[in-house]
Amino acid sequence: MSLLANECVREFTYKSFSVEKKEEESVKIKIIDNPEAVAYCSILWPSAPILALYLWEHRSELIGKYILELGSGTALPGILAAKCGAHVTLSESALLPRSVNNLKRTCELNDLNSSQVAVIGITWGLFTSNVLQLKPLDLIIASDCFYDPSVFEDILATVSFLIDRNPHTEFLTTYQERSSDWSIEPLLHKWQLACSSISIDSLGVESDIDINDLVGNHSIHFGLQKIFVSNLPWTISSRELRQYFSGFGNIYQARVVFDRDTGLSKGFGFVTFQSEESVNKVLKSTNHTIEGQPIVIQPTK
Ligand SMILES: C[S@@+](CC[C@H](N)C(=O)[O-])C[C@H]1O[C@@H](n2cnc3c(N)ncnc32)[C@H](O)[C@@H]1O
Repeated sequence: MSLLANECVREFTYKSFSVEKKEEESVKIKIIDNPEAVAYCSILWPSAPILALYLWEHRSELIGKYILELGSGTALPGILAAKCGAHVTLSESALLPRSVNNLKRTCELNDLNSSQVAVIGITWGLFTSNVLQLKPLDLIIASDCFYDPSVFEDILATVSFLIDRNPHTEFLTTYQERSSDWSIEPLLHKWQLACSSISIDSLGVESDIDINDLVGNHSIHFGLQKIFVSNLPWTISSRELRQYFSGFGNIYQARVVFDRDTGLSKGFGFVTFQSEESVNKVLKSTNHTIEGQPIVIQPTK
């Protein structure tokens, strides 16, 4: 594979001792970086090695999982997930064919063929056939895609759509804080999503990597989380769902899902608490019943 002007290949090695297998595990990933590039997709941004390291340290949970990477760019996290045994789809804006082609070159560089890693064009906020035809996903990943407020809603619209199609899907993203004025909170509310941060304090310990060497202290992980409630009586509204669960703690949001065509309840919904303590209380308590009907509760995180 030939490189274009100013491009270089960077090699990343992830190594850890596996307690279960009693041996050292390692993978090598190559990516094409172009620090001088004008196009964002050609630069390896500091959030990407952080997300990749997080995935590496959770690699046993990735095997056989269906993962979509949004705004992959140089695709370090997605390629790593594929090397750890996940079924990965890398994506880049369909409006930037060159960036989609870069993903194909990166797969080639890592000896991954199209049956191992799919490469597609997904433009955030556009519901094209590429999005509609995606198989149910276990995980959506994105590094440094919240880089400009003008794209926040488009990303969340895509994520919300994919999570609605499969409520077990989680979204894991790293971001670089570029302005303390920016917030996705009102948009999370609008798109009926909630997020929680994941501490990166102990990240790198297993792999003997100092994360401060990677990015300083500007990045943070967070995953979107919903509690899934099913077998709800069809007469229950979001207000009554909230009422029932408010006994367990402060609620950020409660929502029953209704069929768009018939307007009838689909018999399931989501509740998001403001603290994990409340979630734990709900999970510890058995026999949840609304209007005499036992309901089923599943954590999504
Ligand atoms: C800051 S870069 C991050 C790239 C890579 N994930 C990383 O962390 O190194 C943002 C990425 O989002 C892609 N992107 C920008 N706007 C997009 C859109 N509307 N839809 C899909 N991808 C987009 C860019 O091409 C670029 O690869």
